[in-house]
Amino acid sequence: MQKPILILGACGQIGTELTMELRTKYGKDTVIASDIREGSESLMDSGPFELLDATNYEAIEDVVMHYEIDEVYLMAAMLSATAEKFPMRAWNLNMNSLFNVLNLAKDRKISKIFWPSSIAVFGPNTPKENTPQSTVMEPSTVYGISKQSGERWCEYYFNKFGIDVRSVRYPGLISWKTMPGGGTTDYAVEIYHKALEMGQYNCFLQEDTKLPMMYMDDAISATLNLMEADTEKISVRSSYNLGSMSFTPNEIAQSIKEHIPEFQMDYQPDFRQAIADSWPSSIDDSFAKRDWGWQPKFDLDSTTAEMLRNLGQE
Ligand SMILES: NC(=O)c1ccc[n+]([C@@H]2O[C@H](COP(=O)([O-])OP(=O)(O)OC[C@H]3O[C@@H](n4cnc5c(N)ncnc54)[C@H](O)[C@@H]3O)[C@@H](O)[C@H]2O)c1
Repeated sequence: MQKPILILGACGQIGTELTMELRTKYGKDTVIASDIREGSESLMDSGPFELLDATNYEAIEDVVMHYEIDEVYLMAAMLSATAEKFPMRAWNLNMNSLFNVLNLAKDRKISKIFWPSSIAVFGPNTPKENTPQSTVMEPSTVYGISKQSGERWCEYYFNKFGIDVRSVRYPGLISWKTMPGGGTTDYAVEIYHKALEMGQYNCFLQEDTKLPMMYMDDAISATLNLMEADTEKISVRSSYNLGSMSFTPNEIAQSIKEHIPEFQMDYQPDFRQAIADSWPSSIDDSFAKRDWGWQPKFDLDSTTAEMLRNLGQE
């Protein structure tokens, strides 16, 4: 039987869908959602919720003891674009929340952790195409630096204290239920909203900037598959590369035009272009495939069809 799970940062783009999926799988009372703010109505109505600051060790410990939590999914973080504006706040949130969870496990108060990393751990000197699992990593963003440090700490806590911490490097995630929270790949969600609302979108990246992306359903199944995998199958304790599709703003616009022929895309690159330029274009995820059977289901065209269908019904 699944022991109780706590999700920190449950009201964000990933946390919302992860919470719902875990509740469907394990029952609503087994999954405690928490965040510093309330989430969508459907999330708040779906099961127990605690207002909880992921940087406050004692507050998390109280909730862990109260619900006899066994597993923590740490989804609270400041994302790439926002972190460039508030570097120290990003560092404090991204690192302190991770230490809190790792130390709870070290103190044997919880026994398993999921913590997401990102393609932002790579930098301008990383091979851009088919970026390997292990390669040059010199991140040039505040967010990337925090994620790379986080990966090192996860591996250290596994080696030193035997902590069962698991992680994937999510690419840019595309979803329709919750808006993204200040990342560089947010354009690939906003574009569908604007295509339906106005038939036009001003893209903040150049038309030929190719980035790795993934539909949310695939990201959630990857997360659950990794967490359910037998311990001896997990060979990577920093974070697994995770790939699915790669496309440019021009390609997503073409895919939308298949459904909305009059859709118009304009380009006004801003500070996020430099962040995108430092990231890979495509990802070699053969370790995830080999170790725990990772297999994505959605490509660009099926993502576009799902996004337009679901947003069109709202
Ligand atoms: N969305 C993506 O494309 C993407 C890609 C790669 C990695 N990730 C990683 O996945 C994780 C979740 O990302 P997301 O897209 O859902 O982010 P998000 O910004 O949508 O959600 C983050 C949530 O954390 C909450 N939060 C902020 N500070 C908090 C605090 N002190 N205590 C508790 N909660 C707090 C916010 O209120 C928000 O609901 C992050 O670690 C992020 O770096 C996301």
